[in-house]
Amino acid sequence: MTLSGILHLFLLVLPLLFISTHAATFEIRNQCPYTVWAAWIKEKQKITFGGGGQLLDPGQSWNITMNPDNTRGRIWARTGCTLDASGRGRCQTGDCDGLLGCIRYGQPPNTLAEFALKQFNNLDFFDISLVDGFNVPMEFSPTSGGCTRGINCTADIKGQCPNELRVPGGCHNPCTVFGTDQYCCNSSGSCGPTSYSRFFKDRCPDAYSYPLDDQTSTFTCPSGANYRVVFCP
Ligand SMILES: *[C@@H]1O[C@H](CO)[C@@H](O)[C@H](O)[C@H]1NC(C)=O
Ligand SMILES: *[C@@H]1O[C@H](CO)[C@@H](O)[C@H](O)[C@H]1NC(C)=O
Ligand SMILES: *[C@@H]1O[C@H](CO)[C@@H](O)[C@H](O)[C@H]1NC(C)=O
Repeated sequence: MTLSGILHLFLLVLPLLFISTHAATFEIRNQCPYTVWAAWIKEKQKITFGGGGQLLDPGQSWNITMNPDNTRGRIWARTGCTLDASGRGRCQTGDCDGLLGCIRYGQPPNTLAEFALKQFNNLDFFDISLVDGFNVPMEFSPTSGGCTRGINCTADIKGQCPNELRVPGGCHNPCTVFGTDQYCCNSSGSCGPTSYSRFFKDRCPDAYSYPLDDQTSTFTCPSGANYRVVFCP
């Protein structure tokens, strides 16, 4: 075979090599009675690389796929966006540098669907986090792979938010407002629940309410599953 023949064969086979590892599909649905701007990013050691965004009117959905290998990321909803035709502007909650297609974290408050695919023991880890506050009610569920336990956070956290955490469109986590170690756990690494974290936990027992809330807030599924994220389930 000629060199160019080998090259052609390689180019034909190359896509198959990628297809052979199962890509995880995330179906993102907006069931809110208002428009949201869905967003996702991938990250490695808190460095983000790649992401996107999409306007979702009530009832619309959007599918994204992730190559599972060691991929961590998050999905969230932005609200109150005013974006121009080129996808630039500003969102009231969850804004990512004013871009439709996010490449970095959103600004708190934003309810987060977090995932880490194909980790040790060939497991996916997933959670809903209120560590960056709450803006939109959320469900996060595996839809295949024999996993049945989905999680959700649907309480009226915006309506019941303590005054000192309340902002237009959402409810901040106390770490964002006060920035102290008690709430953020950055230096001690040993913080515990507080009356604020209990406010979140009482209303959304499945969700992270403070940074070390792993025990009751992390869920797993054998790697290879697909997932659904619903805003306002
Ligand atoms: C999105 O994915 C879901 C579940 O995998 C599927 O049922 C649905 O048809 C897909 N929607 C689109 C627009 O591809
Ligand atoms: C939300 O989660 C709670 C607690 O796990 C569960 O009892 C409830 O059925 C879930 N609701 C939905 C709509 O999934
Ligand atoms: C702790 O980390 C948070 C972000 O997680 C940051 O906003 C805050 O300023 C940090 N606080 C201190 C005391 O370093």
